[in-house]
Amino acid sequence: MARILITSALPYINGVKHLGNLVGSQLPADLCARYMRARGHEVMFVCATDEHGTPAELAAAGAGKPVAEYCDEMHEVQAGLARGFCLSFDHFGRSSSPENHALTQHLAVKLWENGLIEIRTERQMYSQADGRFLPDRYVEGICPECGYERARGDQCENCTRQLEPTELIAPRSAISGATDLELRETKHLYLLQSKLRERLRAWIDSKTDWPVLTTSIARKWLDDGEGLQDRGITRDLSWGIPAQFPGAPWEGMEGKVFYVWFDAPIEYIAATAEWAHAGGHGDESWRRWWRTDEGAQDVRYIQFMGKDNVPFHTLSFPATLMGSGEPWKLVDYIKSFNYLNYDGGQFSTSQGRGVFMDQALSILPADYWRWWLLSHVPETSDSEFTWENFQASVNKDLADVLGNFVSRVTKFCRARFGEAVPGGGEWGATEEALFQELSCRLASYEGHMDAMEIRKAAQELRALWAAGNEYLQSAAPWAAYKEDPARAAAIIRLALNLIPFYAVLSAPFIPNAAEALQEAMKAEGTPWPEDLRTALSALPPDHEFSVPGVLFAKISDESREEWQQAFAGRR
Ligand code: MF3
Ligand code: ZN
Repeated sequence: MARILITSALPYINGVKHLGNLVGSQLPADLCARYMRARGHEVMFVCATDEHGTPAELAAAGAGKPVAEYCDEMHEVQAGLARGFCLSFDHFGRSSSPENHALTQHLAVKLWENGLIEIRTERQMYSQADGRFLPDRYVEGICPECGYERARGDQCENCTRQLEPTELIAPRSAISGATDLELRETKHLYLLQSKLRERLRAWIDSKTDWPVLTTSIARKWLDDGEGLQDRGITRDLSWGIPAQFPGAPWEGMEGKVFYVWFDAPIEYIAATAEWAHAGGHGDESWRRWWRTDEGAQDVRYIQFMGKDNVPFHTLSFPATLMGSGEPWKLVDYIKSFNYLNYDGGQFSTSQGRGVFMDQALSILPADYWRWWLLSHVPETSDSEFTWENFQASVNKDLADVLGNFVSRVTKFCRARFGEAVPGGGEWGATEEALFQELSCRLASYEGHMDAMEIRKAAQELRALWAAGNEYLQSAAPWAAYKEDPARAAAIIRLALNLIPFYAVLSAPFIPNAAEALQEAMKAEGTPWPEDLRTALSALPPDHEFSVPGVLFAKISDESREEWQQAFAGRR
């Protein structure tokens, strides 16, 4: 048994996330957590809302609410949607928690003591029209790298380059659109990341098993020197973690808070502390996940995120932890994703284009979405949601393959033998062939899941379901029943045993359906199949069950067309 720490990139607090956001971090992280738990590992799976910075301030202003109140409300909304999608967090925290305040300030002090933070006087964008300094995101302009016209002052969405507002061409205020910006002097804390370049490079070089998507982004910033410039880690905002606090070794930071990208990843640790405190556990219970001098040396730490988050997780956050000089656990494996597009374009929060988490659950249960999203996760390239594809995959994979198998087997048994596993008859060559195929496919499914090759795993799972259908087709118990009822009983006994077997294997993808199957088969608590033959004999003769209700309803052409219209834009 291993100990696995799993974090998903923290969703910004500023509104309900769309399915593209969900599939790029939280959902695959949940798949991993469920699978690792099912394999008997000890798992700590945390996530949180990312509540600071300009996105939060701007959204609260848009909603006409004080920012703290807005965050309280939106946290509850996002936590509810996470439950709706069955995201099995051990804790869903908040980056505004007291735990994160304390830890962020602690790490900043350590970095200062190690000579990695200094005060710099800089000239910053001041907007006459708005009467204030403009922090990064309040400035927009043209990206100096790729020419994208709506680049923000912290990062270009188009080419992922991290930016300083002063690098933008033709800058304007994001609050008022004013272009009469002037540079004025102000003081900020700077993190001297460049001093850690060689340590970071050696660390990245040691990650030979990381996907190229991840390491190439990290190397790009290490090599051209752009990504690892010393960065200001304070901002002129009132909402956030104060940069001036009792015991701070510096002065003059009144009215400033830490930069959101400095405190957000620290929340991974703080969320684990929140988990401990909420459950009444002592501090050692979270530190054993995060401190390599207190147990975390045995932990495998996996992070999930979209590709735009990679620089922060391969460079900035490790720089914070390494630079502290304290033995914090660094990530062992980063699983990053490309983008999911929507029906010939992009998901757009501002235009309400695409399906958002709340809307998705209002039209269909979570498992339908989980299956489609995970089996089409943008792993090696961008992928696209279309309603046709969604309909086809739900109707074929879930309704025709899995749902139909369960329904045929249980209904046939009820009609011929009653609602209990029939005894008698022998298994022969057809069953032998099925065992061969299943054990091959099971090994390959486990291999893909261990490697977090999600699409391949989904394909293999579908093939496992299909093998059951093919077996029924070739063993034909309805025909056998007429000649040799005992033989039909043996076939049905095996087919019934496939149901809890499928439920356990499928639970990471479709947890609700898996639970319904276990309940119907009265097989709750079925373990992961360590030995195939044992697993497929787990339900003995006379074991009672009930025919489950419709597992997955097909999506009609009318519904498909109606939804396609409804989600085309302008929410
Ligand atoms: N909120 C960020 C985003 O959605 C992700 C933050 S991840 C963390 O892009 F590292 F800061 F936690
Ligand atoms: Zn760019």
